[in-house]
Order: sequence, then C-alpha cells, then structure tokens
Amino acid sequence: MASVAFTLIEAILGAFLVKLGLTAQSQSPLRPAYLALHLTNTLLLLAALTLTAHLLGRSKGYLRSAIRLVAPFGAVATVVVVMIVGVTGSLAALGDTLFPATSLGSALAQDFSATSGWLVRWRWTHPTVAFCASIFLIWLLVRAAQRSSAWDNRRLSALVLLLLATVYTLGILDVLLLAPLWLQVAHLLAADTLWAALVVLTARLTVQPVEMV
Ligand code: HEM
Repeated sequence: MASVAFTLIEAILGAFLVKLGLTAQSQSPLRPAYLALHLTNTLLLLAALTLTAHLLGRSKGYLRSAIRLVAPFGAVATVVVVMIVGVTGSLAALGDTLFPATSLGSALAQDFSATSGWLVRWRWTHPTVAFCASIFLIWLLVRAAQRSSAWDNRRLSALVLLLLATVYTLGILDVLLLAPLWLQVAHLLAADTLWAALVVLTARLTVQPVEMV
C-alpha cells in the first residue's frame, strides 16, 4: 500500500513539476523546495518497493506480536540523515545545472563568492552532510558486525560499505570533472542502490523476532 501511495504522489509531483514549469533553466524560487520534496518522495517510494520485495522474498514471516524493535531511534536517525544527504545532493545538482562552471578553479570561486546565488554557495553542505551520514552508517555497520552472526547480514553490511565507497568516489570525481551528465547519473544510481541496501539492512537489524533478541 505504501508503494502504491508513494507512486501516486510521485506521479502528481511530476505532473505539477511540468505544469508549474519548474524544468530546464527555470530559476523559480519554488524549484529547490519542490525538488527536495520530489527526491524525498522518490526515496520513500524506493524504500517501500525495496522492503516489499525483501519481505516477499523471505522464507519466514512473523506476526506483529512476535517481533521487537531493537535500537529504533539510531536506525531512524541513520535513514533520515541519509535522506538529507540526498536532498542536499539534488540541490547541488540543480546548482550545477543552472550555473555550470568552466573549470574547477571557477567552480570553487563560485562556491565562495558573495555574488553567487545561495544554491551555489550552499553546495558545500552536500559533502559535509554526507560525511556526517557516514558516521551514522559506520555505527550501523559496527552494530551489524557485533550483534549479528547471520551470514546474510554480514554480506549486506559489506555491500553497504562498498556502495558507500563507490558513492564517495563518484561524488569526488563529480566535483573534479565538473559533474558531466554520465557521472551525475552514475552517482545517483550508486546513491539509490546504497539507499536500497541500507533500508534492508536497517530493517533486518531493527525488526527482529522476539526469541532472537
Ligand atoms: C552518503 C553519500 C552520498 C549520497 C547518498 C549522495 C547522494 C547524492 C544525490 C541523491 C545527488 C542528486 C543527484 C541528482 O539529482 O542528479 C547527489 C549529487 C551530487 N553529489 Fe552526492 N552523495 C553522497 C556523497 C557525495 C560526496 C562525498 C560528494 C563529493 C565530495 C558528492 C558530490 C555530489 C555532487 C557534486 C553532486 C551534484 C552533481 C550530481 O548530480 O552528480 N556526493 N548526491
């Protein structure tokens, strides 16, 4: 039901995006907020689809009364921080689209120039929030290693770590190569894959059968 609801919201958001003309070179003050909302819904949709697939693929199911939440606040904080990383990333991408730089030097000068728009001056927030998110992610991975002897969870933790390193590498290349389209798509694909893997790992660590706790 969540997947269906988020799909409908995604379609409505997409339709209004076009109707309001918040596309191409539009510099409407509404565009950044709208983009943030759109990406947030996309991530929630992806999370709902991933969890549906994951839950349907398991061999065992549990009744609600037979499960227990383990460290839910840390898990929610990790997921929310990674969502904020995505939102700041979508704003950085919009800044790159509207105000493309011709060299790394001019891009850095733009970042610190008082005459640049806020979208460009706030680009630094994306890698900074990404760094903070990594601390939460590492906490989650350490927890996975300490608390779980399940081979599946260890493999998934290794995948999350590998994807985090890939997203970082592509992000740094993005800055150095001035965000060419193919690299933007690769960075977004890696970030979405990291998100999907993180959602499953968080669910596995947080929602556990009573007897396993
Ligand atoms: C947890 C790590 C990270 C995640 C989940 C993440 C996620 C994202 C997302 C969702 C976008 C928007 C893509 C789009 O709408 O086209 C983006 C853009 C961007 N990110 Fe990241 N990012 C991460 C780390 C980094 C790091 C470490 C850097 C650089 C040091 C970086 C540099 C960029 C740049 C330059 C853009 C704008 C160009 C583009 O769209 O590719 N990112 N990021």
